[in-house]
Amino acid sequence: MNTKTTVISEEQLACQFAFCDKINAYWLNEKRTPTAYVETYGCQQNEADSEKIRGYLSQCGYAIVQEAEGADVVVMNTCAIREHAEQRVFGNLGALTHTKKRHPAQKIFICGCMPGQQKVSERIRKSYPHVDGCFSTHHLWQFPEILWKVLNGQKRQFYVEDEAGSIAEGIPQVRDNALKAWVSIMYGCNNFCTYCIVPYVRGRERSREKESILAECRALIENGCKEITLLGQNVNSYGKDLPDGVDFSDLLAEIAALPGDFLVRFMTSHPRDAGKKLFDTMAASPKIAKQLHLPFQSGSSRVLKAMNRHYDREKYLETVNYAKSVMPDLVLTSDVIVGFPGETEEEFEETISLIEQVRYDSLFTFIFSPRTGTPAASMDDPTPKEEKNRRFDRLCSVQNRISEEIHESYIGKELRCLIDGTDKNYLTARTEGGRLVRLEGAPSLIGTYQFVTITGATTWSLTGILS
Ligand code: SAH
Ligand code: SF4
Ligand code: F3S
Repeated sequence: MNTKTTVISEEQLACQFAFCDKINAYWLNEKRTPTAYVETYGCQQNEADSEKIRGYLSQCGYAIVQEAEGADVVVMNTCAIREHAEQRVFGNLGALTHTKKRHPAQKIFICGCMPGQQKVSERIRKSYPHVDGCFSTHHLWQFPEILWKVLNGQKRQFYVEDEAGSIAEGIPQVRDNALKAWVSIMYGCNNFCTYCIVPYVRGRERSREKESILAECRALIENGCKEITLLGQNVNSYGKDLPDGVDFSDLLAEIAALPGDFLVRFMTSHPRDAGKKLFDTMAASPKIAKQLHLPFQSGSSRVLKAMNRHYDREKYLETVNYAKSVMPDLVLTSDVIVGFPGETEEEFEETISLIEQVRYDSLFTFIFSPRTGTPAASMDDPTPKEEKNRRFDRLCSVQNRISEEIHESYIGKELRCLIDGTDKNYLTARTEGGRLVRLEGAPSLIGTYQFVTITGATTWSLTGILS
């Protein structure tokens, strides 16, 4: 695997923009505005990448539409994290044979994390002949070139070589939401947790220059953005590969010091690297949301070691306790895996007891899914599927009770919330901790911060009235 980071030069990017011009000219000649549909699977990193794909497509003259049927271009930006995610993509990809039959000129592209695995790109090559182009995350910056070659009648394009990780600044973005923005601060992952495919499909950790990130945040805020979420697989590693010694806490503090009324959030933190400096920085700034997503994965130190997580139960609890001590209103969420190979009933009980002890606001819960090429995929896994399902259900019911209890405790509180949209006849809002609130009010309030008194709660959301 290649580990060198390459920064895509301005000339290389200018070359891509020249392809955008050619594509524009192509459609001008056809005398109509082409349409494109982008479907996103997986995490926020993929959402952020899709905003770049849409940015390129807009630059090429495409109007972005909301369905595959009839679109001139369909892009599926895929996730490889669990088998189920891949099966969904293959199912939907199969269905596109029909849309293409009805619209034979349709060009279909598949990108994101799945084509980063050789066996997957081979399967696409062999079994999905209606796919015109396939590229891994390392090649996203070359999308105009790929699109042009396909439009120009060249053979199917596969850009899937395991290149050095790259950083490309200046790719246009069409953002989904004017009020809330994702900002990637780094790409890739070096952690190689034994169950995880991400380091294989997204390459090594590489940080964007601080000044580029600050400039992007500044522009977003000036354009009315109220919430910025900084993205990275492990944001606490930010800067380790940069020469100027800046770390994630420094970056966060500088963003929070930008002028304007906004909140900054981030994900994901790795418990190994999240520590006092980060939590003190969060506590010190009213513009940093008191929200932390700190995946623990398992409550058993033995399992954590087998997962290569580099912390144990005690260290994790210490970290969380410190964070809570400096931020009493902290909203804490996490990821957990049940049924890791060899997890015993006692070890599973340690996960339950950790959940009871920490009391997360909410949890993302997963059943272990073996990923070819990762060490955990070849570990002995004697626990039957039914048993894993039982553990999963038990864990969910424990967490649902805790979420409900925490949500109940919000009733009567007055919280500052960003009104961010509508849902049927209600306005929707987010608390500083990222909890969803439904309330009555005028749509003209969308985009403003308001104080809301919480009047009701369910497992997943709150209801309130304007104070
Ligand atoms: N970088 C983040 C998370 C990335 S993936 C972190 O380290 O926390 C999101 C979550 O998917 C992980 O936290 C983990 O809980 C889950 N996950 C990853 N690989 C998995 C696998 N093979 N089976 C089941 N869940 C998995
Ligand atoms: Fe995967 Fe671990 Fe990296 Fe997260 S830190 S992306 S779980 S390898
Ligand atoms: Fe999935 Fe890739 Fe994200 S595997 S979870 S889309 S980094």
